[in-house]
Amino acid sequence: MYKINENYCKLPGSYLFSTIAKKVSAFSAANPDKKLIRLGIGDVTLPLPPSVIKALHSAVDEMGAAETFKGYAPDQGYEFLRSAIAKNDYKNRGVDISIDEIFISDGAKSDSGNIGDIFDADNRIAVCDPVYPVYVDANAMSGRTGEYDKALEKWSNVTYMPCTAENGFVPELPKERADIIYLCYPNNPTGATATKEQLQAWVDFARRNGSIIIYDAAYEAYITEENIPHSIYECEGAKGCAIEIRSFSKNAGFTGTRLGFTVVPKALVCGGVSLNSLWARRQGTKFNGAPYIVQKAGEAVYSAEGQAETKAMVAYYMNNAKVIREGLAAAGFTVFGGVNAPYIWLKTPDGMTSWEFFDYLLEKVNVVGTPGSGFGPSGEGYFRLTAFGSLENSLEALKRIKSL
Ligand SMILES: Cc1ncc(COP(=O)(O)O)c(C=O)c1O
Repeated sequence: MYKINENYCKLPGSYLFSTIAKKVSAFSAANPDKKLIRLGIGDVTLPLPPSVIKALHSAVDEMGAAETFKGYAPDQGYEFLRSAIAKNDYKNRGVDISIDEIFISDGAKSDSGNIGDIFDADNRIAVCDPVYPVYVDANAMSGRTGEYDKALEKWSNVTYMPCTAENGFVPELPKERADIIYLCYPNNPTGATATKEQLQAWVDFARRNGSIIIYDAAYEAYITEENIPHSIYECEGAKGCAIEIRSFSKNAGFTGTRLGFTVVPKALVCGGVSLNSLWARRQGTKFNGAPYIVQKAGEAVYSAEGQAETKAMVAYYMNNAKVIREGLAAAGFTVFGGVNAPYIWLKTPDGMTSWEFFDYLLEKVNVVGTPGSGFGPSGEGYFRLTAFGSLENSLEALKRIKSL
């Protein structure tokens, strides 16, 4: 008789955003006349930029002609896209990444969830707390996280690194074992960033301890300040201890189009085995490539027009972030983030729990945000708003929250 993967049964409750969606749809069903403003889920709202649409149309036409039709893509992705990435995302920032270190994918969620496949079950993972839930849940599915303690909201085999206002949302170096360290900067959900010095300390730690860093840079395009690294490879020695994951979702609006990539440097070798080869093997076996059409769209992001258009999109969202952040601060809220990231992380008022504040905002002013505790126990007492709405909605949400 077959057996299921029991690890799935250990996963607590439903995924954060499904819980929110259920609450919101119950509220909407009971209050059909109320206009909700959704600043919860981190999905973009602006349409794809014109240069990307043009590239999509033209690639669709290519697919319709025998001479230009494309079937399966090369395993690691088309060279035109990997070259554009190597040049624009790395070489132009003084980082030398070769195209065979870049693996095109259908997004950062898949890659951050799947990367665990190339590591032994007997690795201890370390995550920021609060954290983007995918890292922990994916490791739980493969049996790496031990048992879940409902009261503590923690797994027995995971090193949690609290990120709080006190440490500027950049965790202390762990004192306990940490083999695979997940870092994400600019951060979801706290909107914080790590400076070059802070990130270098992590790289040095990983090298000293034989750890590997999985660096999620999905929000790199939102960095506005100097001295904030856009890639972990800007740090000395990082190619020997870090994998970097990127996405086209937030910089170019590809959340529904699906495109991302992962960099696995050839310098990453464990016990004589190249991690680059392992990931190539994993992807070659379980993934058949992002569509040609979408990779052409990704290439267009790096064109002069694409760069100008996507920068304007990011600037639009970051203006929302500024409006929300400054407005809430003026109204007496304690706010973080929103400077190098499209997330505003605020302290819930009057000692409310994160879910209490969620219900309060939903019911009183019909604004949907995300409870901080949904991202981990240290997120309790915090709340996340996103800047991905329209300016009108951001202003309206702000007005409503101020009226409370
Ligand atoms: C930190 C982080 N990584 C990855 C993703 C997923 O990105 P993608 O759309 O490329 O799968 C998200 C999406 O919200 C995210 O917040």
